[in-house]
Amino acid sequence: MEEANSFSLEVASHPDNVGLVRLAVSALAAGAPFGVPDLEEIRVAVSEAVTNAVVHGYGGCRTGRVRIEATLFPDRLSLVVSDQGRGMEDVALARQAAAGDGERLGLGLLFMETFMDHVAIDSHPGRGTRVVMEKRVPVAAMAADGD
Ligand SMILES: Nc1ncnc2c1ncn2[C@@H]1O[C@H](COP(=O)(O)OP(=O)(O)OP(=O)(O)O)[C@@H](O)[C@H]1O
Ligand SMILES: [Mg+2]
Repeated sequence: MEEANSFSLEVASHPDNVGLVRLAVSALAAGAPFGVPDLEEIRVAVSEAVTNAVVHGYGGCRTGRVRIEATLFPDRLSLVVSDQGRGMEDVALARQAAAGDGERLGLGLLFMETFMDHVAIDSHPGRGTRVVMEKRVPVAAMAADGD
């Protein structure tokens, strides 16, 4: 695969749309030689990011918009999940607070960081959150695919 393939999608902040985004991202990622475990990790990471936008960004209000930009480059999958919801003052603090909260596990960000090769979060109170994630296409698989 020489050129990038991509899509962008904007969905309502409805919990049902987490599955829709997961499907769309899976379909795009299937164009690269990711292994089955990699694909599962990508699905979990994007599900967590969209769930956070729905649950935390918009506080369960279903009329917000969540945008997903997904690009499959020859060597990596890039995902950007953004909302214009509540935002966070400090990502590290939000995460610590979540971990100490009995109801939520505070695992979403950890999963994203564990499963993806690169994660960057840009968030501003009252303006929203933008999560950028990348997963590299395995080098050996890329070489085999090119044969
Ligand atoms: N898009 C977002 N908008 C606003 N706050 C967010 C957003 N994403 C994450 N947060 C904040 O960061 C915290 C940590 O997120 P994380 O996904 O790790 O845990 P969680 O969502 O609380 O629990 P879990 O994902 O295990 O259900 C959240 O509790 C929330 O306060
Ligand atoms: Mg979460």
